[in-house]
Amino acid sequence: MAGHGVVALAVLAAYCLLLQLPAASRGQQLQVGFYNTSCPNAETLVRQAVTNAFANDSGIAAGLIRLHFHDCFVRGCDASVLLTSPNNTAERDAAPNNPSLRGFQVIDAAKAAVESACPRTVSCADIVAFAARDSVNLTGNVSYQVPSGRRDGNVSIDQDALNNLPQPTFTAAQLVASFANKSLTAEEMVILSGAHTVGRSFCTSFLARIWNNTTPIVDTGLSTAYATLLRALCPSNANSSTPTTTAIDPSTPATLDNNYYKLLPLNLGLFFSDNQLRAIATRIPSAASFAANETLWRQRFAAAMVKMGNIEVLTGSQGQVRLNCSVVNNGSSSGAGTAAYHYSGSTVSIDEIASS
Ligand code: HEM
Ligand SMILES: *[C@@H]1O[C@H](CO)[C@@H](O)[C@H](O)[C@H]1NC(C)=O
Ligand SMILES: *[C@@H]1O[C@H](CO)[C@@H](O)[C@H](O)[C@H]1NC(C)=O
Ligand SMILES: *[C@@H]1O[C@H](CO)[C@@H](O)[C@H](O)[C@H]1NC(C)=O
Ligand SMILES: *[C@@H]1O[C@H](CO)[C@@H](O)[C@H](O)[C@H]1NC(C)=O
Ligand SMILES: *[C@@H]1O[C@H](CO)[C@@H](O)[C@H](O)[C@H]1NC(C)=O
Ligand SMILES: *[C@@H]1O[C@H](CO)[C@@H](O)[C@H](O)[C@H]1NC(C)=O
Ligand SMILES: *[C@@H]1O[C@H](CO)[C@@H](O)[C@H](O)[C@H]1NC(C)=O
Ligand SMILES: *[C@@H]1O[C@H](CO)[C@@H](O)[C@H](O)[C@H]1NC(C)=O
Ligand SMILES: *[C@@H]1O[C@H](CO)[C@@H](O)[C@H](O)[C@H]1NC(C)=O
Ligand SMILES: *[C@@H]1O[C@H](CO)[C@@H](O)[C@H](O)[C@H]1NC(C)=O
Ligand SMILES: *[C@@H]1O[C@H](CO)[C@@H](O)[C@H](O)[C@H]1NC(C)=O
Ligand SMILES: *[C@@H]1O[C@H](CO)[C@@H](O)[C@H](O)[C@H]1NC(C)=O
Repeated sequence: MAGHGVVALAVLAAYCLLLQLPAASRGQQLQVGFYNTSCPNAETLVRQAVTNAFANDSGIAAGLIRLHFHDCFVRGCDASVLLTSPNNTAERDAAPNNPSLRGFQVIDAAKAAVESACPRTVSCADIVAFAARDSVNLTGNVSYQVPSGRRDGNVSIDQDALNNLPQPTFTAAQLVASFANKSLTAEEMVILSGAHTVGRSFCTSFLARIWNNTTPIVDTGLSTAYATLLRALCPSNANSSTPTTTAIDPSTPATLDNNYYKLLPLNLGLFFSDNQLRAIATRIPSAASFAANETLWRQRFAAAMVKMGNIEVLTGSQGQVRLNCSVVNNGSSSGAGTAAYHYSGSTVSIDEIASS
């Protein structure tokens, strides 16, 4: 019986190590190099996955930058955006994310690589943050360090995405309020909007600027020539199933430069919300400064990305380190009861791992 007790203790100890549950670890700060000892290659492996995907499709970088933004604004940077739901009611199914959000497979590939190097250690939320940084570096030659140690959430609800993500129809006041709700300033809203210097958009995000039902219109702040071009691309009956996309920054769509800010005064901002930055220009004149000084914007953008990456993060023993980024581990992270999870298509119990 004593032997059994020792085994049980050993299993318990291994179990606590596995789940990384130091008692006093709640509410920690994120740290650069969080995985220095637990998974020294984590950031390199993520970088490799992003580089591979980028070599196949350079547009994926824009997708990964937006993925981090859409993760952070909804329930914090907790990888809730990656969760799937059997009845299609997760964040990723909501209109702002479906069909436009992309990069999920890159995160899955990165996760597979880090799981194989260091099982049950690196959170999906951190992988998303690293992948966004790598995408920024690949498209913009901007390098910044990502504080890490985020834990993954286990709740993902489509309505939360609708409630928390700014819409392309938002006014300046609504945009400022949306970012303020995430502890980001109006200027940081202007800085982060510069991400629209890369990537693409489906028709539905700007259709109301060029069509009033079936009548051609030209929204305030949109060039007539650009509107004509967009109308040729997007018929008035385009909807979320229309596969057509167009570059948000048509001159340098794959480069994270300051061109976004140069396009705005030329009436070439694609979304109503982009053009709204001009409406607050007297109060927040940063857009003009960024148009004039690319180095300035790059520095401010890197800092704002780090700040965005801190929104409502779970740390320490909060949440969990998801094993498969698209599904919650089976059982709570507190380890109470019989915990088991799905990985590589099979359910494995924690007891089996602890004793193997
Ligand atoms: C200020 C409020 C914002 C609004 C209203 C907004 C809206 C949008 C919309 C409507 C799209 C196109 C979606 C579609 O395909 O239909 C888009 C794309 C994109 N957004 Fe934003 N966005 C905002 C802020 C941001 C921020 C803060 C970032 C990142 C830091 C970001 C990064 C991107 C990127 C990279 C794309 C292109 C995605 C791709 O090519 O896959 N956006 N945004
Ligand atoms: C990880 O290592 C880097 C480089 O030596 C250092 O800057 C960072 O502070 C370290 N982080 C932790 C949490 O140990
Ligand atoms: C390469 O990119 C295309 C989209 O451009 C995508 O459909 C395909 O799955 C990607 N292939 C790999 C191996 O990532
Ligand atoms: C969808 O499934 C979730 C559980 O996964 C449940 O909480 C929710 O009520 C379901 N929603 C609908 C609309 O059926
Ligand atoms: C990237 O940035 C570094 C330092 O900021 C600079 O020395 C280098 O020339 C840049 N490379 C490119 C390709 O722009
Ligand atoms: C960022 O990109 C430049 C080249 O464009 C490279 O020299 C640098 O090492 C990259 N930085 C990081 C952190 O990946
Ligand atoms: C503000 O953020 C909270 C969560 O932090 C969210 O519940 C709420 O819906 C958000 N409101 C708006 C208007 O974005
Ligand atoms: C759209 O057209 C209707 C009349 O058909 C008009 O009342 C409305 O103001 C127009 N809306 C816009 C945004 O132009
Ligand atoms: C989108 O438009 C097409 C063609 O007009 C139509 O067949 C389809 O049902 C529409 N889809 C949605 C989701 O509205
Ligand atoms: C551009 O911004 C950088 C970074 O803040 C600054 O060092 C530089 O002096 C600025 N250049 C000009 C021409 O103002
Ligand atoms: C979700 O996470 C919370 C907090 O970590 C935990 O209490 C709860 O049991 C988890 N639920 C599931 C289904 O894993
Ligand atoms: C999750 O774990 C519970 C308790 O061990 C088990 O009854 C259930 O079948 C598991 N669910 C899945 C999807 O593996
Ligand atoms: C992760 O979960 C999804 C959804 O259940 C499944 O399709 C996928 O195969 C799983 N991935 C791995 C690596 O097990």
